[in-house]
Amino acid sequence: MQQHNVLILDFGSQYTQLIARRVRELNIYCEIHPFNKPPKNLVDFKAVILSGSPNSVRSEAVLHPDLSEIRGKKPLLAVCYGAQYLAHFSGGKVAPSNTREYGRANLSYIKNEEIFFENISEGSQVWMSHSDTIKELPTNAVLLASTKDVENAAYKIAGEDTFAIQFHPEVYHSTDGKQLLENFLVKIAHVAQTWTPDSFVESTVKSIQDKVGNDKVVLGLSGGVDSTVAAVLLHKAIGKNLYCIFVNNGLLRKNEFESVLTQYEGMGLNVKGVDASERFLTALAGVSDPEKKRKAIGNSFIEVFDDEANQIKGVKWLAQGTIYPDVIESVSATGGPSATIKSHHNVGGLPDFMKLKIVEPLRMIFKDEVRRVGASMGIDKDLLGRHPFPGPGLAIRILGDVTLEKVRILQEVDAVFINGLREHGLYDKVWQAGAILLPVNSVGVMGDERTYEKVVALRAVESTDGMTADWVNLPYDFLQKTSNNIINKVKGVNRVVYDISSKPPATIEWE
Ligand code: XMP
Repeated sequence: MQQHNVLILDFGSQYTQLIARRVRELNIYCEIHPFNKPPKNLVDFKAVILSGSPNSVRSEAVLHPDLSEIRGKKPLLAVCYGAQYLAHFSGGKVAPSNTREYGRANLSYIKNEEIFFENISEGSQVWMSHSDTIKELPTNAVLLASTKDVENAAYKIAGEDTFAIQFHPEVYHSTDGKQLLENFLVKIAHVAQTWTPDSFVESTVKSIQDKVGNDKVVLGLSGGVDSTVAAVLLHKAIGKNLYCIFVNNGLLRKNEFESVLTQYEGMGLNVKGVDASERFLTALAGVSDPEKKRKAIGNSFIEVFDDEANQIKGVKWLAQGTIYPDVIESVSATGGPSATIKSHHNVGGLPDFMKLKIVEPLRMIFKDEVRRVGASMGIDKDLLGRHPFPGPGLAIRILGDVTLEKVRILQEVDAVFINGLREHGLYDKVWQAGAILLPVNSVGVMGDERTYEKVVALRAVESTDGMTADWVNLPYDFLQKTSNNIINKVKGVNRVVYDISSKPPATIEWE
């Protein structure tokens, strides 16, 4: 597999991760590296892709990659900024464009480059997003395709496997973008399509065994997809030497602790459930500021986890469910890689478990790949399809201070809402959903009695990564039934509202 890696050099484009996603969809393994921090050993990479960039090759802050071991030596595909870079510094000319070059365009071929454009017909829609344009092609270039506004939309360098395109094949609006990447990677660069969930599991199990040997590993399970898949992978590799800890912070969904714990045990995991609800609720008593709540919960978790990890004799490793988007070093607007990595240094003052060596079996895969890997290992579909749930749990959905009674009310409301979504076949259509307990009472009437009780808000959003989100247009009859059920079944609530705010400007959670 190693010789069938693809290297993506990142110049800071918003679409760089999309290039990697498209390549992985072709069952080809790839890695993203900052353009100015390429991997030391290029032997492992069979082809290279240059990403786009918000920078201009004409500006003083031009981003210069070192292509001396790449250009003419490995198949190279230069996208957008990459294409302009090759043109500008190899005898061509790049200038600001006169017309707006953003959005959809259609390709017309100048020369039918059979392999590069195989199975892509004349007129194919592509996505443009650039303000500079290539006025003159570089030395030895052969023009391959144009659009109405962009003459030099695709070119190749004669005598090299170097191709350059002004448009973005990674964006879905480029209808044949995936085909074009396949043509380049498979037919031109001869990269094998062997990256599958099964092959990932096989190679990861082996590398965990090589790395960890007979050592003991501790892992905190959260009930979420990432930590669960990481645990099952590690369990496959080292069996009982994996010690899982699942903490009940008292802020989980109704019955969540018991049911997830049973599920984990059923999967054969060596898991210890620790009920620390009281400790968390005590730490939260009287705290209403959202960030202070998060701190109190974070600190309590560290204390509980540290106590538990210390009871495992001779444990040497801490496993984490870190995934690729958390690891990628993004290139900042000024061109330098801006480190977004959370590091765990062996320095004093940290809890004992943080002084352990780290193993992160999912650090090179994306969220959708985590799910596919989980499915290939036979993890239950319902567990893999669960909505994201915040670490601080219901504490940040109870506005104001948190008490046991408020948690009880919210757990009941949340259960009615989430079960309703499942019963009506809506759960999988929603990215995340939950209920929020508002810090106000409202007047109502039940029978002949006046009531003065709590108001709850329901929130359901569509999203891909939680960075932006839109409220979901849930059917009125579903909302009506849910509202009735909540008010009839949950003592202490007399009013239900539905949150119709998108992110931005709102956020998904209310705190
Ligand atoms: P926001 O509210 O920022 O939420 O739009 C985006 C996503 O992050 C989750 N979230 C958290 N997750 N600890 C977590 O582990 C937190 O403190 C936290 N705050 C928000 C939220 O549920 C949503 O999926």
